Order: sequence, then structure tokens, then C-alpha cells
Amino acid sequence: MHQRLEEAQRATASAIEAALADLPSGDLTDAMRYATNGGKRIRAFLVLESARLFGVEDLSAMPVAVAVELLHAYSLIHDDLPAMDDDDLRRGQPTCHVRWTEATAILAGDALQTQAFAMLSDPVIGPAEARIALVARLAEASGARGMVWGQAQDIAAETAGTPLDLPAIEALQHAKTGALIRFAASAGAIIGGTDPAPLQDYAHYLGLAFQIADDILDVTASVEQTGKRTGKDQAAGKATFVSLLGLEEARARATQMVVRAEAALDPYGDRAGNLRALARFVIHRKT
Ligand code: IPE
Ligand code: IPE
Ligand code: MG
Ligand code: MG
Ligand code: MG
Repeated sequence: MHQRLEEAQRATASAIEAALADLPSGDLTDAMRYATNGGKRIRAFLVLESARLFGVEDLSAMPVAVAVELLHAYSLIHDDLPAMDDDDLRRGQPTCHVRWTEATAILAGDALQTQAFAMLSDPVIGPAEARIALVARLAEASGARGMVWGQAQDIAAETAGTPLDLPAIEALQHAKTGALIRFAASAGAIIGGTDPAPLQDYAHYLGLAFQIADDILDVTASVEQTGKRTGKDQAAGKATFVSLLGLEEARARATQMVVRAEAALDPYGDRAGNLRALARFVIHRKT
């Protein structure tokens, strides 16, 4: 799996470079390129691996992998803004608004988001029907019922009088992190013209495990390790699995989510080995 992940990271990086190659020169484009550098690329990997399950080649799936990484990069730029999490470090580098200005960072995020949707119109992906379905699903996953809704709950919880309970935190994370991960994992089935349901179940549990791991790393890991400031969630009064359950129970819950994620892949048998390994990777990762 690790070799495949590295291959996907390399291929996605070149495809992103190509996608952003012909833009007018200036701070906006520089900021867009900067913000799309690095990262684990697990969402791109999910697109490429889910596509492989249905015999869809990387060439067809790549614009979708790029789309999801551009959308993710936009979400991180805005997540780091002073009005949101107010972070100055991302992927080991100054955040976009620190490196440029807040205005440039906001606009780079905006432009990455629209570029993501443009990627989905590429005929190389497949029939127009599949591309339209991808557009609708990405909009749903990232918008007012998906990632943006989750981010709104995350920010609101900072100042809420009473802490969120487990179902409320799960709903928040299901949207904030889960929606884009579910989109990425189901993309292969959409391109392949088949039912994405088992992949969505897998990604539901994977997304929860992923965000629990992110919350645990905020408490246990160093800046050098993660490339972003740690120890910030508690100080900001964030509603996280760790704030509610404590470290030990959060770890146990993450493991339970991985077991469920792996089980959801049963219909695909051995062909889903890389996706199973990814589920274990997300809770053992150090960054
Ligand atoms: C970080 O996502 C933001 C969350 C949704 C928790 P990743 O941990 O996937 O970030 P990169 O892309 O690898 O930097
Ligand atoms: C951000 O979650 C999720 C997004 C939608 C970008 P976090 O705020 O926990 O992500 P990090 O820890 O800053 O990467
Ligand atoms: Mg945040
Ligand atoms: Mg943040
Ligand atoms: Mg975090």
C-alpha cells in the first residue's frame, strides 16, 4: 500500500501542476500552487484506488483525484484563516495568509474551489452522465450540508455554552471531514457506473477514524512531526472526540472504526487490500 500511496502522491502532484500551469502569473496563482504542495494525498489515493476496483484506469480517474485535492487545499487555506482556526503553519510551511495576505489566501481558496469543479468536466473521465453525477456529489459533499456545514458547527462549538455530546460530534465530523472522504471513495464507483454504497460505508468509518486520529495528533504529536501547530484544539475549546472521550477511549473508538471500515470492503474481497491498509494507516500515521 505504501508504494502505491507514494506513486499516487507523485502522479497527483504532476497532474495538479499541469492543471494550474496555464493561469495568469501573479500572487493569486503562486498562492494556489503553494497551497496545493505536499500533504498525504489520501483523498486522491481513495479516488484512484476506488476506480481501480472497477477497472477504471488512473488516466480517467486522475482529474477527479486532482479535483478533490484542490477542494481540500481550498478548505485548508480557509480553515487556517485568522477568522477560523488562526494557524500560521501548514505542511511545515507558513500558512497561505501568512506567506501572502489574507485577501490573497481567501481568493486562492475561492479559485481552487472553482478549478476543482472545472476538472470534473474533463471528457477523459468518461460519459457526461458520470461527470454530472460527480459535480452534483462534490457540491453536496463540500457545501452547506457537507464540509462547510461541518466547519460552521466546529466554529460554533468553540463558543457554545454546553459541550457537544457524542452524536453531535459525530455529525459534525461526518460532515467536516467525512463528506469529502466519502466523495473520494465513492468516485471510482460513479466513474465505473456502479453502486457506490459499500464504498460509502467504508468511507463513513474511515472518515471518523481519520478525524479521531487528527484530534489525537493535536494532543500527542509535535509541530515537527505534523507540520502544523499542535495543542490548539483544547485551547480553542474545539468539540473533538478527545475532548469528549479522553485519549484512551478516543484511541479505542478509532480502532473500532477501522475494523468497521475494513469489514465494509468485504464485497470487494482481496481486490480492496490497499483500501484496507489505508484504513489502518490513517490511525497509525504520525503526520
Ligand atoms: C487535514 O487533512 C485536515 C483534516 C480534515 C483533519 P489531512 O491530514 O489529509 O491533510 P494533508 O492534505 O495530508 O496535509
Ligand atoms: C479541518 O479540521 C477540516 C477541514 C474541513 C479543513 P481541522 O481544523 O482539525 O484540521 P487541521 O487540524 O487544522 O488540519
Ligand atoms: Mg478547523
Ligand atoms: Mg484547523
Ligand atoms: Mg485538527
